[in-house]
Amino acid sequence: MSELDDPHAQAIDTAIASLSGLPGALLPILHAVQAKLGYIPPAGVGRIADALNLSRAEVHGVISFYHYFRHKAPGKHVLQVCRAEACQAMQGEKTEAHAKQRLSADYGSTSPDGQFTLEAAYCLGNCAAAPTVMVDEKLYGRVTPERLDEVLAEWRHR
Ligand code: FES
Repeated sequence: MSELDDPHAQAIDTAIASLSGLPGALLPILHAVQAKLGYIPPAGVGRIADALNLSRAEVHGVISFYHYFRHKAPGKHVLQVCRAEACQAMQGEKTEAHAKQRLSADYGSTSPDGQFTLEAAYCLGNCAAAPTVMVDEKLYGRVTPERLDEVLAEWRHR
């Protein structure tokens, strides 16, 4: 396992210092680390486990259980495509297939240019405007394949 570099170690230590006193501190710490770094560095799991008096296996278990947590650094942006029912009913699978083809990436992987990590989502709370995608924190509704091309173009060089 690779070593943690200083900025990563610092981000983890900051999250631990500010949140470890909370009941059920593991999830808030993991959220804070991912918000700062974009993922949970595998080399940081031991540090988090030690701070909370948990085993590495327990921390790994929680990270693996919640698909939201990433094990690898994402691309510059994260494109989430909703795969839940309302979006599927509005031909979301066409948007989904188009996203994979345009990015040359499957779920959980990053486009070769490093611009977008593709992730599946299971309802983004925008069912009335299905199919829905989200880029970083911005939501888009009624995303046909054509509309997806516009969305990707909007973000590609940001
Ligand atoms: S089902 Fe896709 S946003 Fe709710």
